[in-house]
Amino acid sequence: MNNEIRVFCPATIANISCGFDVLGVSLDAVGDEMVIRKKSGKGITISKLEGQDLPMETHLNVAGVAGMALLEKADHAGGFDIEIYKKIKAGSGIGSSAASAAGAVWAMNELLGKPFSKLQLVQFAMEGEKLASGVAHADNVAPALFGGFTLVRSYQPLDIVPIASPSELFATVIHPQIEVKTADSRKILKTNITLKEGIRQWGNLGGLIAGLFTNDYELIGRSLEDHIVEPVRSMLIPGFDQVKSEAIKAGALGGGISGSGPSIFTFSKGQDTAEKVAKSMKEVYEHIGVDYDVHVSNINTAGVKAIH
Ligand code: HSE
Repeated sequence: MNNEIRVFCPATIANISCGFDVLGVSLDAVGDEMVIRKKSGKGITISKLEGQDLPMETHLNVAGVAGMALLEKADHAGGFDIEIYKKIKAGSGIGSSAASAAGAVWAMNELLGKPFSKLQLVQFAMEGEKLASGVAHADNVAPALFGGFTLVRSYQPLDIVPIASPSELFATVIHPQIEVKTADSRKILKTNITLKEGIRQWGNLGGLIAGLFTNDYELIGRSLEDHIVEPVRSMLIPGFDQVKSEAIKAGALGGGISGSGPSIFTFSKGQDTAEKVAKSMKEVYEHIGVDYDVHVSNINTAGVKAIH
């Protein structure tokens, strides 16, 4: 059995407009890398962390905390050392903490001969999310570990449902260069919704899932609506309405806030359209003078994976 593994840890888009805290999807074009190796001493050490200024103490690092949750349940006398090479910016809204937590537990499970199921790995990784945002949400770590789209049907008990990914679906994600902490962008949300708001939201959620299973791109597009969270959080995102409307004019099926923001995502049918959409989104930020990163990606159906 190997003692060391290098992994790709994908970025993810959570919520996907109508699925707050329950829907997410894994991307291919952007993600971190990690190297995990067995060590004889107990516990977890983080010996390298490049690309972002994040804590390296095990109990303050999402990979460390998620890894410790796994180690507590594992039949393993030793521990692990972790190297983290961040490409996903913290506070960008594309699952930076989830990538580290999911990457750590997936790699440890491989090195131990896969004693844990993917569902158990999601539970361990959720401990990292709890450290990062105060809430153990699974809508980034589930797609990072299962790949593709996932639905958190239930949190108690945890029930993750893998959802189909139409082969021509591409995501365009633009990240205005500001940091929004998930914990902060959760605090501004209202905690009650009306029956009318609920009806709109679950109609769209059902529509989106039906569209994903039947390759109905138009249905996917018109289901990307969120009348509950988006109106509140979009106030934190420069040029949100304009970016979204220009993207749709350029051919996007629809879009919204990626996770807790500030990144904005759109879906398109085909890579060419997704690239045109990227151009239209960039132009808005160039016009209003906001720095950005942009990613065009197909759907990553594998989730975290070993690389060489
Ligand atoms: N569902 C979470 C939120 C995702 O929107 O707060 C955070 O990436």
